[in-house]
Amino acid sequence: MAKAGHKSRMNPPDDRHPVRLRRSVLCVPADNARALAKVATLACDAVIYDLEDAVSVDNKVAARQTLAGHLKRERRSDIEVIVRVNDLKTPFGEKDLAFALTLAPDAILLPKVESPQDIQTVVDFLSENDAPDTLRLWAMIETPRGVLNAAAIAETGRTRGGRLDCFVPGLNDLRKETGVPALPSRTYLASWLMQILLAARSCGLDIIDAVFNDFRDGAGFAAECRQGRDMGFDGKMLIHPAQIGPANDHFGVDAAALAEALSIIDAFALSQNADKAVINLNGLMVERLHLDQALRLAARAEAIRKKETDT
Ligand code: COA
Ligand code: MG
Repeated sequence: MAKAGHKSRMNPPDDRHPVRLRRSVLCVPADNARALAKVATLACDAVIYDLEDAVSVDNKVAARQTLAGHLKRERRSDIEVIVRVNDLKTPFGEKDLAFALTLAPDAILLPKVESPQDIQTVVDFLSENDAPDTLRLWAMIETPRGVLNAAAIAETGRTRGGRLDCFVPGLNDLRKETGVPALPSRTYLASWLMQILLAARSCGLDIIDAVFNDFRDGAGFAAECRQGRDMGFDGKMLIHPAQIGPANDHFGVDAAALAEALSIIDAFALSQNADKAVINLNGLMVERLHLDQALRLAARAEAIRKKETDT
């Protein structure tokens, strides 16, 4: 992993979009005491404490108390804390939501979001229950309707008081609903992933790539991380601690990309380029929009460096 050196070049270019690391987003079943205890030792950027698919129906209610106890004892302040609730259409969803609020997470992840109204219902609930403005919503896009409505769902993040912050495609559900099989390279799912990604970006949302189920297949996981990174995802949702290191690497900043970004920043800092919109950098046309990208990448590298030295 690249080490960034020049502090003055590392300021985020835009304070409205602070650099937030979401390379590795680990899902932890809320009723699994051993997995919960493990979180203290893990180098992930975020944890999704799951009350939904990872918890059996019989354990749904008890899982809330197990999770509350865990967070009371050992909540980490250096990672994002997200709670995934059950679908509001199930008997558990609404109580999960009220319960999640008491945990003061950074975000609540809603499963099976299919329409803007699904988000608005929760936004209204949170307002009525005095949730802090800082509480964000993440949305799983994992049904055919959800994919088709992704752009309209993303728009809710732009409205006044909109809390939507991040999309997570759910491919296990989407495969089940559509019959598209799990092929390497996600051949017939890739276009839907890109559609969801475009919807997210059209409204400035982050987006995290879907889980890779075969957690002992390191080569397959690495290949899927590379694919997700090349598609433009911010990070990957994970199911096992062994996936954290590779996800951090693949969704981090590599040394060559950082070196190129720094050369762009340096070139525009030269006095003879101060008023130029476009410059020749060793045969490469570089515009100010590339400078924005370079500053952002450098800020990301600095955030990673800081996280690695702090831990
Ligand atoms: N979070 C934290 N720790 C985890 C973990 C997770 N998601 N998955 C495994 N671990 C821990 C185990 O508890 C074990 O630690 P221990 O030896 O201290 O008990 C260690 O990592 C090694 O685990 P391993 O034996 O390889 O796997 P397992 O059989 O315990 O668990 C799964 C395998 C798939 C059941 C488990 O990884 C899991 O539940 N993952 C999350 C599933 C999920 O959230 N699904 C819903 C979203 S798609
Ligand atoms: Mg799901």
